[in-house]
Amino acid sequence: MSLVIAGALLTAGVAYADEPPVTADIAAGSKLFHNGKPGVSPCQSCHGPHGMGIDAMQTPRNQNLGYAYTVKQLVNFRSGARKDLTLGVMGVFAQQLTDQDIRNVAAYLNSIPDDWKDLSDLDALKASGTPVGVAYKGMEIVRYGKASRGITACQTCHQYDGRGAGPVYPRIAEQKYVYLVNMLHHWRAKERTNDPLGQMEAVASHLTDDDINNLAAFLSHARLTAIGDTFVPDNDTVMANLDLKH
Ligand code: HEC
Ligand code: HEC
Repeated sequence: MSLVIAGALLTAGVAYADEPPVTADIAAGSKLFHNGKPGVSPCQSCHGPHGMGIDAMQTPRNQNLGYAYTVKQLVNFRSGARKDLTLGVMGVFAQQLTDQDIRNVAAYLNSIPDDWKDLSDLDALKASGTPVGVAYKGMEIVRYGKASRGITACQTCHQYDGRGAGPVYPRIAEQKYVYLVNMLHHWRAKERTNDPLGQMEAVASHLTDDDINNLAAFLSHARLTAIGDTFVPDNDTVMANLDLKH
């Protein structure tokens, strides 16, 4: 299937008399994602042509995680508040991005039709020697937590089965397996520290290595909707007027 990119200019809902309205240009974001710009490699070379991430490169899915979350991460990489602990490249690239580039690429990533099912191949990962957890045990923690060990259910913040609750809580459902495992280790070790309220460091501090593998096994294939609960978060491109100074 081919992607249809509406070259639409999205205009923020709120415009103040003396400030020009903030806009995000999806077509320009698509161009940046696929072609890069001077000093910035094409994003797709690491995140895949549809932003679904690549386990072999340990890169995340970055499409449809939420517009505000995506902007925040790029701003955090640019300021150094978040370090790329995997390849050490995101800070370097983000420093070349203007506020407008960031809005454009975030709008593009969150406008991609959400039907790409290029999810982690857990059997292939297992065959290549990557420890893969047990999905139903991960589901238990996502939905109910583990009170006896102080673990809050992930869905109290990340919505049902991790489908995301913008603007603060990213979608973690259908994220790449290897990246989920890496991030949960980094939160636990307090190496990723760009969570403004420290919520992730607190949750991850109670997780064992097995919990992490189990969570990633479930989340990497968690469905976005379920019978009786079909709420899908709005990825709110209208939030293009977000304050970029985190
Ligand atoms: C050379 C490979 C590479 C290129 C090119 C690249 N990235 Fe990344 N990106 C990564 C890696 C690796 C991470 C994970 C970093 C970490 O350890 O936290 C990442 C993380 C991200 C994240 C955070 C996702 C999340 O779930 O929090 C976003 C957003 C992102 N990249 C956007 C971009 C954009 C936009 C571009 C192009 C302007 C780009 N990347 C180019 C490798 C790359
Ligand atoms: C109290 C709220 C809260 C709970 C509970 C919570 N999280 Fe989070 N989580 C957050 C916030 C806030 C962020 C975004 C931090 C930022 O801005 O970078 C986040 C980010 C993440 C990320 C990084 C996503 C990405 O794309 O890089 C992962 C993975 C994650 N959470 C997994 C979990 C798991 C698994 C659980 C359950 C064991 C959980 N979270 C429970 C608040 C929470």
